[in-house]
Amino acid sequence: MQSKKGTILSGMRPTGKLHLGNLFGALENWVKLQDEYRCFFCVVDWHALTTAYEDTEDIRDNVKEMVIDWLSCGIDPEKSVIFKQSDVKEHAELHLLLSMITPLSWLERVPTYKEQLKQIEGRNLATYGFLGYPLLQAADILLYKADAVPVGEDQAPHIEFTREVARRANYLYKKPIFPEPATILNEYKVVPGLDNRKMSKSYDNIIEISIPPEKISGKVRMMVTDPGRIRKNDPGNPQICSIYAFHRIFNTAGLSGIEESCRAGAIGCVECKKDLSGWMQNFLAPVYDRRRELENNPRVIDEILEEGREKAVKVARKTMEEVRQAMGV
Ligand code: TRP
Ligand code: SF4
Repeated sequence: MQSKKGTILSGMRPTGKLHLGNLFGALENWVKLQDEYRCFFCVVDWHALTTAYEDTEDIRDNVKEMVIDWLSCGIDPEKSVIFKQSDVKEHAELHLLLSMITPLSWLERVPTYKEQLKQIEGRNLATYGFLGYPLLQAADILLYKADAVPVGEDQAPHIEFTREVARRANYLYKKPIFPEPATILNEYKVVPGLDNRKMSKSYDNIIEISIPPEKISGKVRMMVTDPGRIRKNDPGNPQICSIYAFHRIFNTAGLSGIEESCRAGAIGCVECKKDLSGWMQNFLAPVYDRRRELENNPRVIDEILEEGREKAVKVARKTMEEVRQAMGV
């Protein structure tokens, strides 16, 4: 335990069931980090409210669905602290106290702020909570004095922002309260969606992590291949084919064989897809089984979150005592 390299915190908004893009873009990294670091993984349900404050009826279910996905992919409550943001009220207190020292201009210039304002339509995002999104994230991280935060590239500015807030607090209150957390950029495998665009819920082109094994080949059949290949003997280009991108991830043998046969027009897409479905079933069937097991014991999820809450609160309380002391309240 004590030989670990330091503390890590990361979080995900509870958007419901995760898809293969989430698995190979983020979750797989978390699973690996568990052995090297003391890890806190947080379901950030308050962050869900910063944009989806009008339709909240699914948030509680989504929290559970996401935790089930985490566990079935190998996040381990014996190794990591798995908890829900709203269970640890100290996140709110730290957010409030840090809001006193955070210049508005810092929040306004966070690149995701302006981008999302433009991208998300049909909602009024001229809210206090939405502007404060990165500060709530900073509070998540600093509360546990995380040394590092594993995230995708899009989130890197938020970690940079967190370092600035930490530095400002340490400077103003003349105490090294918070370490400045490093960014660990997630290693990322390219995961195209069914239509060969990036896999994303908003494109409606996803494959869920928890797909039942018998449904895999149906999805794979829908996937786009090299559009230039019309007849079976036409030479293909695997580099632009989403099936090939998936072979890269799931196929633990014969990759070069496929590349060559495809380029030579010696293998048909139907066969290539069948082959892939088999590899995916091998990989995803155990994930599915673990999900089924957890779904049959829903109390387990509550217990894991309760245990996580207890462990998280211990650390959070300690940090808050220091912060209150430093800030004179
Ligand atoms: N903003 C992150 C995202 O949208 C989620 C998040 C909230 C987070 N708090 C965090 C990530 C703390 C890392 C650390 O993906
Ligand atoms: Fe893609 Fe396989 Fe068809 Fe080649 S043979 S285009 S890699 S599906």
